[in-house]
Amino acid sequence: MASNISKGDNAEHYKRVSSCYDSMYSDNLAAKVSIINRQLQFTSGDTVLDIGGGTAGMSQRLWKTHNLKAPVLCVDPSDAMLQIARGKMGVETIKATAEEFFVNYSDRKVFSKILMISCYHHFKDPGLVFEGVARLLSDDGVCLVTHAEYEPLLFSRLGKLLDIDYSQIAKHAEANGLKAQITSDSEVREVTKESCFSFLRNRMFSILNEFTDSEIEEGIKELDQRYDGDTVQAAYEFTIATITK
Ligand SMILES: C[S@@+](CC[C@H](N)C(=O)[O-])C[C@H]1O[C@@H](n2cnc3c(N)ncnc32)[C@H](O)[C@@H]1O
Repeated sequence: MASNISKGDNAEHYKRVSSCYDSMYSDNLAAKVSIINRQLQFTSGDTVLDIGGGTAGMSQRLWKTHNLKAPVLCVDPSDAMLQIARGKMGVETIKATAEEFFVNYSDRKVFSKILMISCYHHFKDPGLVFEGVARLLSDDGVCLVTHAEYEPLLFSRLGKLLDIDYSQIAKHAEANGLKAQITSDSEVREVTKESCFSFLRNRMFSILNEFTDSEIEEGIKELDQRYDGDTVQAAYEFTIATITK
C-alpha cells in the first residue's frame, strides 16, 4: 500500500498541476483556511509568511479576510506554482525552498504568523527550517504546521496519504528553543463526486502518479459505492503543530 509521497523531485508534479491547482483544490483550500482561522487569531497588523505557499490560494484568502496591511509573503520553489501566485493581489513571492529561504533571507524582518501548510513532507532538512523559524518568528508570533491527515478521496489502495511524525516536528522546534503543541481539528464539507473524481483522474496528489489509469478507476468505483448520491460528505482531519517562542 502506498503510504508516503516521495521527498525526491516534485518539481515536475507541481509544474503539471499548477494551472488547475486553484480550481481543483478549491474545497481543500477552503477547509484549510477555516482550520487556520480557528487556530490563529489574526489582526490587520499581522505579518504573514506562507512557506510552501504554492499558488498563494491561502495567502490571498488570509490577506483579504483579515484586511492585512502588509502583503503575505509566499515562498515556494516551484516557478510554475509561483507564476499563478504572482498575479494575486496582497501577495509577494520569493522562489525558494523553505531551507533556502531561511538561510538566504535570514536578515528579513520578523513575521507574526508563519504557515507551513501541506508542505512539511517536502522538507529535506527540517532542523534547518526550524532554526530559521526561531530567528524569524516575532516574540508573540505563532508558526502553524499542518496537513490533512485524512481526505475523503482516499480509496483503500491509496492508503493514508502521508505519515508525518508530529513528535519529530515538536523535537525540531524544541531543539531551537521553541515550544510546540500538537492538537487536531476537522472540517466537513459537501463536494460533488464529479469534482472529487476529476481530482483523482488529474492525479492532483503526487502519489497518484504511481497508479495506472485502471487502478485509479478502480479506486473511483470504490468511492462511488462508499458514498450514496452525487455528493461526498468530505471530512478532512488535520493534526496541527502550533509553535511559539
Ligand atoms: C501540496 S502543495 C501545498 C501548497 C499550499 N501550501 C496549499 O496548502 O495549498 C506543496 C507545495 O510545497 C512546495 N515545496 C516543495 N518542496 C518544498 C520545500 N523544500 N520547501 C518549501 N516548499 C516546498 C511545492 O512546490 C508545492 O507548491
